[in-house]
Amino acid sequence: MTQALYNKWRPQKWDEIIGQQHVVQTLRNAVVGNRVVHAYLFAGPRGTGKTTAARLLAKAVNCLNEDLATRPCNECAHCVAVNESRFLDLIEIDAASNNSVEDVRELRDKINFSPNQGTYKVYIIDEVHMLSKEAFNALLKTLEEPPAHAIFILATTEMHKIPATVLSRCQRHEFRRLPVDDIVGQLQKIVTSEKLTAEPEALTLIARQSAGGMRDAISLLDQMASTGKEITLGLTQTVLGTATSQTVIALVGAVLDREPAAGMDAIHTALDSGSDPRLLARQVVDYLRAVLLVQMGNASQVDLAMDTRAQAERHAKAFSPSDVLRMIKAFNIAATDLRGGWQPSLPLEVALAEVMELPAAAAPIESRPAAKALVETKAEKPVSKPGKEAEKPVEEIGNVTLEQLTKAWRQIRALIKPQNPSLDGLLNSCRLLEVKNGVLVIGFSSELLRSKVDMPEQIEITRKAIVEVCGGELSVKCVVTNAKQATPPDVKADGMVAAAIKAGGEIVDIQE
Ligand SMILES: Nc1ncnc2c1ncn2[C@@H]1O[C@H](COP(=O)(O)OP(=O)(O)O)[C@@H](O)[C@H]1O
Ligand SMILES: [Mg+2]
Ligand SMILES: [Zn+2]
Repeated sequence: MTQALYNKWRPQKWDEIIGQQHVVQTLRNAVVGNRVVHAYLFAGPRGTGKTTAARLLAKAVNCLNEDLATRPCNECAHCVAVNESRFLDLIEIDAASNNSVEDVRELRDKINFSPNQGTYKVYIIDEVHMLSKEAFNALLKTLEEPPAHAIFILATTEMHKIPATVLSRCQRHEFRRLPVDDIVGQLQKIVTSEKLTAEPEALTLIARQSAGGMRDAISLLDQMASTGKEITLGLTQTVLGTATSQTVIALVGAVLDREPAAGMDAIHTALDSGSDPRLLARQVVDYLRAVLLVQMGNASQVDLAMDTRAQAERHAKAFSPSDVLRMIKAFNIAATDLRGGWQPSLPLEVALAEVMELPAAAAPIESRPAAKALVETKAEKPVSKPGKEAEKPVEEIGNVTLEQLTKAWRQIRALIKPQNPSLDGLLNSCRLLEVKNGVLVIGFSSELLRSKVDMPEQIEITRKAIVEVCGGELSVKCVVTNAKQATPPDVKADGMVAAAIKAGGEIVDIQE
């Protein structure tokens, strides 16, 4: 098995450590000035160099090179032994799996024996915050009176979980997240030396996704390299699931144009073709974040493909930053919403409905308040009046009305789904327009969608399902409708309900 890239690229000398200069300089000075102490605590995010620096220090204090400034030399017997992981006086303990008081006592018993090979016995205790309370107490005793030949290096990603008593015994060093540029530089170096081919934008994206952790960045690069292909931005986006799809741009465009139906179409078309709703929501958030960055003048931090970038710049001009922020918030909820299992598209639809209430930059203020529109609609009884079933409107045919069809639409689709899942998906984003002279007219927001449904076999499946659920006889006709559909006469035209109806929603209940 080949070695993981991040292990292969573990720094062996002080000046190979990227960043963390404040830490490295102090440790080097301590080695040169013979001021190494008995207990260190290295704290910081994962993959930023804690274990690396701890091993370098262990190697340096045991190095046999006469010149202190050259330690570790990587040439003497001790350095070589450490590099080959066979130096007996370097003991690494993973506190996550050895966290009991017995583990620490065992360590204490052994610690009094002199070093086997070197000058110092060095204990690196990783993830030290995982120790039990009793284990911490036992460790504390050792830290209070360490033997002269012992050095402890405790490492943690969660310094706040370390008892103050332990902290006060240690010289503390904080490791920081690495800047994107530093990570890109290191990745580029690895790419060149490993004879890989990678686009600079791909490395930037990898670096950004790693949140300042070099190990994660190198692991990602490793993963990309293992595909055996050239590491392009496109491939990286695909692997990371960060591609800004056409769907995302269509969705944001629909918000801008105040076209809820087009937004719903974008969502459903993507989900019907197998997109994951939460991933889609995350992509929307990623894209909007880019738009926001452009608005704030940080366009250089945006890693998007060129064509997407041009879009982002256009959207940055069209929306106000506060609109973008509100959209981010709405879609972020959809991105983190773990529910919606029975209706996976719901969180996205809710987010869309919510942002549709956004005034597009110049829209009149009156169209804003969703709550107001809802209240008014409740009082208005737009669709059916219970108890007046006798007076059927003109659209009636046999005993099937548009209203009944609308109510039964889910049930009808449920019959269609097992026969033709994609037809069911398409019928999720259509509008039932009218029933007239025995013909149900179904509206689609685009010719593309219409043509996908309007085929004899599919029309027949749809018709049969309708007949099975509602009884009666009718035929089905597909048309393309303008997304700006008229709403039922007694629904406020600019309210939330109207927007939902335009988007293909249906009124299922009216509270008096
Ligand atoms: N500051 C850094 N400079 C160069 N490489 C680093 C740095 N930090 C981490 N790495 C890379 O990540 C790998 C893991 O780093 P490590 O020191 O084990 O991180 P941790 O902080 O989690 O202990 C190293 O082998 C190295 O390849
Ligand atoms: Mg570590
Ligand atoms: Zn040496």
